[in-house]
Formats: sequence, structure tokens, C-alpha cells
Amino acid sequence: MRFVRWSKLMVLSFTRITQVLLQMPMATLSSPIFKSTTLGEWDFDISPSLNSTSHLVFDSVGSLMQHWTNTRYRNGHNIVPGTVPIGTLLYHGTYKQEVPTEPEWTALDPELSYLFCRSDPTNSSASGYWHLTLVATRPLKVLYFDGSSAAKMQSGPLDSQDIVIWGEVRLDRTLDERKRINKLCDWGREFELDGFMRMEMDFEIMLCDFTRGVEIVSFLNIQPDEDKWLHSAPSNPPGPEPELPPGDGASYTLQHRVIEAGMWHNAFPGETRVNLDVTRLVSFYDTDLFPSLTDARFGQERWEHRLQGLVALDSKRFQTRIREVFGQELGSGVDWRTLIHVVVDRYAERLEVLQYLLNTTSTTEHAKKIQRQLRTMLVPYILHTAAPTPDSTNYSWALPVYEHCATTHTRYISSTPSILAKLTKSESLILRSIQEVSKEICRVVVGMWAEGVELGLDIIPPASTSPSSSTSILELGSTAITGIMDQWQKRTQDLMAWLDWSVWAKCNTACGHEEVCYLPTWPFLHGPYWPHDPSSGLDVGQVPMDARLPGIEDREEGRPQPKCIRRVEPFTGI
Ligand SMILES: *[C@@H]1O[C@H](CO)[C@@H](O)[C@H](O)[C@H]1NC(C)=O
Ligand SMILES: *[C@@H]1O[C@H](CO)[C@@H](O)[C@H](O)[C@H]1NC(C)=O
Ligand SMILES: *[C@@H]1O[C@H](CO)[C@@H](O)[C@H](O)[C@H]1NC(C)=O
Ligand SMILES: *[C@@H]1O[C@H](CO)[C@@H](O)[C@H](O)[C@H]1NC(C)=O
Repeated sequence: MRFVRWSKLMVLSFTRITQVLLQMPMATLSSPIFKSTTLGEWDFDISPSLNSTSHLVFDSVGSLMQHWTNTRYRNGHNIVPGTVPIGTLLYHGTYKQEVPTEPEWTALDPELSYLFCRSDPTNSSASGYWHLTLVATRPLKVLYFDGSSAAKMQSGPLDSQDIVIWGEVRLDRTLDERKRINKLCDWGREFELDGFMRMEMDFEIMLCDFTRGVEIVSFLNIQPDEDKWLHSAPSNPPGPEPELPPGDGASYTLQHRVIEAGMWHNAFPGETRVNLDVTRLVSFYDTDLFPSLTDARFGQERWEHRLQGLVALDSKRFQTRIREVFGQELGSGVDWRTLIHVVVDRYAERLEVLQYLLNTTSTTEHAKKIQRQLRTMLVPYILHTAAPTPDSTNYSWALPVYEHCATTHTRYISSTPSILAKLTKSESLILRSIQEVSKEICRVVVGMWAEGVELGLDIIPPASTSPSSSTSILELGSTAITGIMDQWQKRTQDLMAWLDWSVWAKCNTACGHEEVCYLPTWPFLHGPYWPHDPSSGLDVGQVPMDARLPGIEDREEGRPQPKCIRRVEPFTGI
């Protein structure tokens, strides 16, 4: 009894909200904020627009600072201000005992900075490596570029930095790291930025001034790595730039150690040593801000998305928006990244299991099992009153289930004027992405469940008393069941392809105990970066310089696919 009354109450309050929304004056309805939070029609047949970027905003915001997704999709589309808390360590590998007097690169894990340690090439009696450890003495202001934004590749990872510095993508600057860091730091001075955060094998912070906001913890002369020593090229002493091709001369072991450190930050919440403020995020997937990119992306897969198509007008709009972002103090207080992960957690594994169940030859019993899988995903939304009636068409009886499923997590936020008033533009974009993604998941899942109900697969009976009702499964026979399950499989596959969550990118077979599942990452896209390959007959020092530089060498294409690699010696097969 109590359940019945409760569900009636829910329907009532939901209807009230709808009525309130409908009664709003037209001026409110057409205001930008309101427009950005409406969800349009409720119809099981209407899927998101082909040009919608909600799934891309949802996934990229939910994946910020996570190594796995940002290795899979190297071409970042988000720029987010953040702070490095007091007490955080930063590491810098170098070849002399001198604190840099110009902008330089620091790592968050010493595994990465160690790759850049060298001995002083001008002093033959000094063979130790120099490793500087710094600590933040106040919160450091940084700007984060998502994607594999430290991968020196021409295929897109550097695009968003190029837009910041040059207003356009500059392929001729791919390897010009010195100019890049100097320009970024010059640009950031206006906003009092201390540095820029990027990702390659692991995360790094380009630090603009080694005397501001940091103190030296230690500056050690450390033991050179034996392998690294052996493999380093004496004819090519490292210059002052620590951003030499990373891994140059480093042993396989060290390369594996840095890959390992990067993988510590694979899954949500990822690298947590920088606190990002997504209320001030700028996303190139924002189609209101950057309409020119809609044309540029049309017909492309996500791997191919670039910022080269950004027209001058949109590039100007970017500069305006980024200034706004550094000026604003607003924000609703909603924890957006957690909210996104609530949705991901609720559906990631269940959709995967559903896909697995749908991939088996169907019997009525099996179809009922699939129906139970669908039903149990939806229990909080299946109203007691939801059941087909003899005169219902197009699953209209299931629409309230669809609406509750799609709106529960965002309804309070999107219908409370005092919160809407506080939302930044970035938050409106994120809210809309969560709404649209939830809506699409629920359209597909509730749609299949409702069909299953009408086919008699559920514990809710079909409206079999009506002459016009759908045929029940019992009358259908196994060929028909297989046909329906094939359709459901297609619908599930399409949904998962649209969502394209990186938690689903896994190694096909479980890796052995001495292995780990790995996504090829720059600069190891085609094996160890510095392959000391005896079969090549070439000594390290003889390899032509430009053949060793990623970005020039053909290291560009290829969608990173997960594979098992060894995590203990002997290290082969990255
Ligand atoms: C060379 O290195 C040795 C050992 O670290 C040191 O004592 C010496 O002062 C260095 N020479 C110069 C010219 O820096
Ligand atoms: C999607 O974008 C392309 C390119 O801008 C445009 O031609 C097309 O009409 C758009 N389609 C929809 C459904 O908005
Ligand atoms: C579906 O089954 C086939 C054959 O058993 C298998 O090769 C394929 O990987 C399966 N697909 C999924 C998504 O489980
Ligand atoms: C049901 O769907 C069909 C096909 O989309 C449409 O033509 C029809 O008008 C719909 N009926 C109702 C009552 O909405």
C-alpha cells in the first residue's frame, strides 16, 4: 500500500514540475540558460542529433586527468584552470646543479623526471645525474590541457595549446618546445598562472618560474642508471633543454617504470594532485562557442577531431571566453565530475553485461533473463502504475519511466532558479551533456524494457485482453525472439558506440600475472622509444637525428588499442 501511495506522489510531483515549466513565460523559456537545460521531446524514436557533442563533453569532462582515456583520445578538447596544493612535490631532471632561470618542465612522478637526468657533459669527472625536487609553498595556479597534450605529434595533441598561443594550429611548431613553454608562460602572466599541466607517459607541469611559489626540497647528485649510461649517445651530449626526446638512451626498465607511473592515474579520479575547477572549463566541444568546429568534425570519428577548422571568429571567441573564465567567481557548488561518474557507474558494467547476454542465441528463457537485466537497471523508475493498457500506442505508458530515469539526477539542478542563476556557462554545458547522455541511455534501455513488457517477457503482464495488443512472446516462436534480440543487440551496440566510454576499452584476453593491460602511448607508439636493436646493425649514435624525433617519424596514425605488456623483466613488447 505504502508503495502505491508513494509512487502516486512521485508522479504527482513530477507532473507539477512539468506544469511549472510549461507555465513559465516565453521570455524565460528563450533565455540562454533555460534553453540549455531543456530536454526536448519524449519519444522513444528520437535519438540525439548527429552533431550533438553531449557524449563528448560528458566523457571528456568525466575523464579529466585520467591517463587511460586521455591516452586513447590524444587530441584534447578541454582547457581547465586548476591549483596545485601547498606541499605538493614537483621533480625536475637536469645535467647540472643549477636551478633553472627560465621556464622548464617538471614531473609529478620522479619516474618521468629521471628520464631527463644526465651527467654534466662539460665535466668529465662528474658522472652523477642531477635531480631537483621542489615543493609548492602556496597553491600554484595552473592551466590544464586534456588529451595527450605533451605528445609532440602533428596529429592533434598540441592543437589546443596552439590556439592559446598562436590563435591557430601551427604544425611547424610541433617540436618547438622551448618556444611553446616561453609563449605559454608569457601569455599566462596576465592571469598570474604559475604553470601549465600536460600529459604524455605521465603528467607534467611546465613551471614558469622556479623561484615563485616553490622551494627546493633537495637537489641530488644521484646514481646514473647503468643501462641508460650504456645506451646514451656520447656524440650527442644533452643540451640545456630537458625536453629532449624522452627516453633517449633510457633503458627499457626505466621506460617501463614511467609507463607504470602513468598507469597509476588511469582510472577515475586519475591524477588528483591538481584540483581542477570545471566550473571554469573551456571546451572545444561547446558548439555554441565554436560552431565552426561542427563543420570540421562532420563525418569524422572522435580520433580524428582537430582544431584546425577553427575559424578566426571562433578563435577570438576563445580568447574572450578564457579571459571571462579567469575573471569569474561564480559557480553552483555542484560536484560535476562526481555526478558524471554516478551515471557512468550505474550503467558501465550493466550495459556491458547486457551486450554480452544479447550476444547469445536466444530462447524464451534467455530472453526473460535479458528482460530481468533491463528491469533491474530501472527499478528506481518503474512506477507502480506503469503498465501497458489496451489502448496505449508507441509505449506511451512507459514514458514516465523514461522521464524519471533520464531526469532524476539533474532535475533539481535544472529546475531550481536560484541554482540556474549561479551556473557558469561551462556548468550549463556540462549539465546539458549529463541530461542528454542520461536521456539517451534511458531512451534505449527503457525502450527495450517496454518492448519486452509488451512481448510478455516481464513480470508486468502485457495488455493481452485487448484485441489490438501486441503479440505475446509465447505466440512468437524462437525465430521471432532471435529477431527481436538481434535488434536489441544492435540498439545496445549503437548506444555503447555513441557513449564510447573508455572503461570498455580493455585487453581482449586477461593479461598474465607478469603482464599489465596497456594502451600504446607517445613516444612508445611503435615500441620502445629508443630501440637499441642489435639486429638493425646501427649503433645508437648513428641513428639520424630526425628519425628519432616523434612527430617527424611516422608515429602518427593508429588508434591506440589496449594490449598486454610485461610488467616484470624481461621487458619486451611495448
Ligand atoms: C666537475 O665535477 C667535480 C665532481 O662533481 C667537481 O668537483 C668539479 O668542481 C667540477 N668541475 C667544474 C668545472 O664544474
Ligand atoms: C550537422 O552538421 C553538418 C555540418 O555543419 C550540417 O551540414 C548538417 O546539416 C548538420 N546536421 C544536423 C542534423 O544538424
Ligand atoms: C559475440 O560472440 C561472438 C562469437 O561468440 C564473439 O566473437 C564476439 O566477440 C562477441 N561479442 C561481444 C560484444 O561479446
Ligand atoms: C506512433 O508512432 C508512429 C510512427 O512513429 C506515428 O506515425 C504515430 O502517429 C504514433 N502514434 C501516436 C498516438 O503517437
